[in-house]
Amino acid sequence: MSKIAVYAGTFDPVTNGHTDIIERAVKVFDRLVVAVAESTPKTTLFSANERKELILEAMPELLDRIEVRTFKGLLVDFVREIGATVIVRGLRAVSDYEYEAQMAIINRQLAPTTETVFLMTSRRSSFISSSVVRQIAEHNGDLSSLVPPNVAAKLKDKFKR
Ligand code: COA
Repeated sequence: MSKIAVYAGTFDPVTNGHTDIIERAVKVFDRLVVAVAESTPKTTLFSANERKELILEAMPELLDRIEVRTFKGLLVDFVREIGATVIVRGLRAVSDYEYEAQMAIINRQLAPTTETVFLMTSRRSSFISSSVVRQIAEHNGDLSSLVPPNVAAKLKDKFKR
């Protein structure tokens, strides 16, 4: 039976930190579904479909290995619906631990057959976050080492005055 894993997030926008985790996860699981959260407490810069398109455009070499989908509601329900058994999360630093532990334990309580697996980001991605990227873009800073080129172009467009 093939192992399907889900890597979920807001991805507003996808960064080199996220693509690093995706590249690692495809080596571990038979199939990886990148799940873009539609309903999130965060106010997003990009629509769910824009966020999904940015991921697809950023990773052309992996399109036969990954599927990118948007989802609404609880992550564990989506995971169950698509027949996956694993939730992949990226860890950047110790500061991620508390939030990640809480999510993993709650998700396990909601869906005991679902396991959360943590992958460590590369050191060069460990300081990246989507909100830092959005701030730099807003003030016209250099994004070349933080996000894929298509994302940098889209952000530039978004903040064009
Ligand atoms: N590289 C770079 N940045 C990363 C990263 C990585 N490897 N991993 C996380 N981040 C950043 C994200 O960009 C995000 O940055 P931001 O807050 O500046 O925008 C931040 O870290 C938090 O990311 P993440 O932990 O992925 O949270 P999220 O808010 O993007 O997504 C969901 C969280 C969508 C997975 C979660 O809220 C969820 O499952 N929602 C569905 C509802 C649900 O089931 N709730 C119960 C869960 S307990």
